[in-house]
Amino acid sequence: MKICVLGTGYVGLVSGVSLAAKGHNVVCVDVRPDIVASLNRAQPHIHEAGLPELLGKVIAERRFVATLSLEEGLTGAEAVLIAVGTPSLDGRIDLQYVRRAAEQIGTWLKTAGTPLSVLVKSTVVPGTTDTVVRAILEETSGKKVGEFGLGMNPEFLREGNAVEDFMNPDRIVFGCEDEISQAVLEKLYASWHCDKITVNTRTAEMIKYANNCLLATQISAVNELANLCFEMGDIDVQEVMQGVHLDRRWSPVTEGGRVRPDILSYLIPGCGFGGSCFPKDVQALRTLGRDYGLPMPVLQSVLDINELQPLQVVRLLKSCMDSLDGRKILVLGLAFKPDTDDVRESASLRIIRSLVQEGSEVMAHDPAAILNAKKELGECPVQFVNDWKPVLNGADAVVIATRWNDYGALARPEIAARLDDKPVVDARRMFRPEDFSNAIYLTIGRRPLKD
Ligand code: UGA
Repeated sequence: MKICVLGTGYVGLVSGVSLAAKGHNVVCVDVRPDIVASLNRAQPHIHEAGLPELLGKVIAERRFVATLSLEEGLTGAEAVLIAVGTPSLDGRIDLQYVRRAAEQIGTWLKTAGTPLSVLVKSTVVPGTTDTVVRAILEETSGKKVGEFGLGMNPEFLREGNAVEDFMNPDRIVFGCEDEISQAVLEKLYASWHCDKITVNTRTAEMIKYANNCLLATQISAVNELANLCFEMGDIDVQEVMQGVHLDRRWSPVTEGGRVRPDILSYLIPGCGFGGSCFPKDVQALRTLGRDYGLPMPVLQSVLDINELQPLQVVRLLKSCMDSLDGRKILVLGLAFKPDTDDVRESASLRIIRSLVQEGSEVMAHDPAAILNAKKELGECPVQFVNDWKPVLNGADAVVIATRWNDYGALARPEIAARLDDKPVVDARRMFRPEDFSNAIYLTIGRRPLKD
């Protein structure tokens, strides 16, 4: 089956390469010549585990090509996936790229002889495909849905794990406006064996938002509890959560023993969520609700808590240092989460900006995200270091802002011994207090004992 994918961001590229790996013939279309050229040399422009290898394989097997030409992509294709960006704009999603893609496809459909299904893969707010996209396609093509297919197929890919998530999904959602798109979606995913559900397009869109909004709500709820535990003192929210996690509804007791589902990893106190999805999606659904006259107080609180959560790190440092002015703080981690170079909405960058405002001299390290952080932080004075261990001695305090495995070394006796009673803020709960007998261990949701 020939498939055209519009957009080669992490959703478009991972989808295209994975579909090719499952035997489809994929043409990815992008407007940037540099990206198209590097993809055809099997060099992805995004950092995703397993992607370079899989891209090399599907190019060698002649099942994947990147092009600047939409016509080359659409000619002979049974489906076109719209996977262009939907950036955030004043709490809403900016649909300009989706609109443009729909216009171009509609114009092509006008003279196309073969039936084509247009499938929206980008994350769009509920009601976008069956109103905005449908209207543009029908207007520019002069045809009605039914003469071409219209569907919505949300993605549930985690950055850093996207190829694995696409190849081994927990579910596939088919949002369909007609029978053509349903048949095409079933054919497209015939070799995936997982739960598949068929709904209308606005339900498919809502499934994606509901999923992310509930995960973000869990994170903010736990962070609110963490802040209360900190205020009260003599209580560690981590121990509280251990007790909560043992509820059999969170971690079922089976004959084989207790199951510890992945969902528990969204119930860990910390300095807040970031990335290109959770903040944007929660804002967009909150705004959509308000457009319908609903105040959406839960989602607003999720955002408010998350906005302030990185500042808890500054507060913890202030609890044991008279002033942060002129103090050298080493921040470990810049990416919004480990195993990615993405710094969008990263809590770490908010921590750094606040520390700089307090007059601190910030040194920062990340195994993959220094380049992106430099661009994002612009003029903000930060000394980036490629190796964090040599600068430990010169730092007055250390903050762990991203849970990279590499930072586990901090608790090794020979390294921990160099901490010399300095404050260590573990903003991602990587360690136990007893790992640092030679430092002041501080963490969100646990007031330091000397208070
Ligand atoms: C998220 C969802 O997990 C995916 O299912 C979804 O497809 C994707 O958004 C998307 O909409 O495309 P992702 O943004 O890659 O994936 O990241 P997650 O691994 O879910 O982490 C999101 C943020 O939550 C990170 O900043 C992480 O540090 C933070 N987090 C996670 C916490 O602050 N606390 C936790 O307990 C867990």
